[in-house]
Amino acid sequence: MNRRASPVTRHPSRDDPIVCRCEEVTLSEVVRAIREGYDTLEELKRKLRVGMGPCQGRTCLPLLARILSRETGRPLDEVMEEISIRPPLIPTPFDLWRGR
Ligand code: FES
Repeated sequence: MNRRASPVTRHPSRDDPIVCRCEEVTLSEVVRAIREGYDTLEELKRKLRVGMGPCQGRTCLPLLARILSRETGRPLDEVMEEISIRPPLIPTPFDLWRGR
């Protein structure tokens, strides 16, 4: 489903909170994907686009790691090692990269 094509923003519910605000991915979508076999952070990112929004996962990747740890029984430290942080760590104007 292409969520960006819809003018309607999804509303979180108490029963199914939003995990990734940027990509509007809910907890139930994450859990369903894990149970389908997407059991690494990279696989979940590719399937659900979690962590690929404007904040680049600053908010949602730690949540996703906790959910993945809980659902798979893997230690949180082990799951957190899968997070690869790439520069720039904050939004950066292009002029900075051009040296102006
Ligand atoms: S909250 Fe998930 S990418 Fe921003």
